[in-house]
Amino acid sequence: MKAFNIMEDITKKYLDEMLSMRFDICTCDLCKQDIIAFALSRIPPKYITVDSFTDKLIQQIRTENSQLIVKELVAAVRTITSNPRHEEGLDREKAYHLLMKQIKDDRGVDFSHYRDRVLKRRIALRMRAKNVQTYSEYLQVLIHNSEEYEELFNVLTINVSAFFRDKPIWDKLKQDVFPALIAKKLKEHGLRRIRIWSAGCSHGEEPYSLAIMLYELTEKMPEKIKIEIYGSDIDRECLKQAMLGQYNSESVKGLTPYQLRRFFIPINDKYQVVPQIKELVQFKNRNLIHDPAFSGVDMITCRNVFIYFNRSLQEYLIMKYHEALVDEGYFVMGTSENLLGEARQVFSGVDSSYRIYQKISIKKY
Ligand SMILES: C[S@@+](CC[C@H](N)C(=O)[O-])C[C@H]1O[C@@H](n2cnc3c(N)ncnc32)[C@H](O)[C@@H]1O
Repeated sequence: MKAFNIMEDITKKYLDEMLSMRFDICTCDLCKQDIIAFALSRIPPKYITVDSFTDKLIQQIRTENSQLIVKELVAAVRTITSNPRHEEGLDREKAYHLLMKQIKDDRGVDFSHYRDRVLKRRIALRMRAKNVQTYSEYLQVLIHNSEEYEELFNVLTINVSAFFRDKPIWDKLKQDVFPALIAKKLKEHGLRRIRIWSAGCSHGEEPYSLAIMLYELTEKMPEKIKIEIYGSDIDRECLKQAMLGQYNSESVKGLTPYQLRRFFIPINDKYQVVPQIKELVQFKNRNLIHDPAFSGVDMITCRNVFIYFNRSLQEYLIMKYHEALVDEGYFVMGTSENLLGEARQVFSGVDSSYRIYQKISIKKY
């Protein structure tokens, strides 16, 4: 009875799924053939007869072997496409760099320090939406249709945020960090103020959360402390919404019902930040990489922004923030981000599990 290697069938289907969004590598028939051959040379065959072939059996074999197949396919894709049997790989990289150069020339945004892998994945979303297969074709789309830039920037700089996002960090700020900062300010003479910079603030949820928390912590104090929060972002559309200060029910989920009643006015299906909180926050359009930092700040929050940047840019920014902070100022990162390189010497972890750090004062002699 005729038998065939079912792993070949399953592997080919996996590969098609994997390659559906990979415009950054060659997916020509020759390369695909080589990838399959490479992967199958490392995946033990499983022969079944035509008679025993049922959807249920295929599904079962697929589930049992999915981890191995994906692992070998990832390795095969990397090996074959970085060294294809033809020259096209080089052209693709060249086209990608031309595309990035065009974006920089047209819009002044330099993504060269962003992680290539992240950028390519995001650009693939737009290429698919525009139904084009190559970076050169997508470049033409951008040249002939400048509105596409808005769509592209929307996917490149993902703007997801929410009030009091990652609650444990906010609990830590409320219980330990802000009381210590407030106590320090109370010891000062003259105008007391707390200045915080929310870098990469998206639609403003983070700076408004900071404003709400500090307002609540200081409102009953006999001594007044001026609160100044700066929110900055590269994305002008985001900032327009931030300045408007209206949010949908999803964004405000992290607020308590009391905070929502007290600090927001319901307008249709939206929630509008009240003036007493709004006036504590100023928004500025700034590119973290090229524009100057807000200096003399007591705290910088830069959360879920570094994920887009390569290591050297992260190190550069962390040192730039170090300079912008006052002595013993705080630096708050996202939960999946880490201090890198030299920064480990000049920041101490207030609580590194929450990614809250404090500038080590550099004594001047
Ligand atoms: C995922 S949001 C993070 C929002 C907020 N910090 C939070 O954690 O909820 C990332 C933001 O970084 C901004 N961003 C990315 N690259 C930037 C750059 N070079 N300069 C300023 N902002 C940038 C994006 O526009 C986006 O709004």
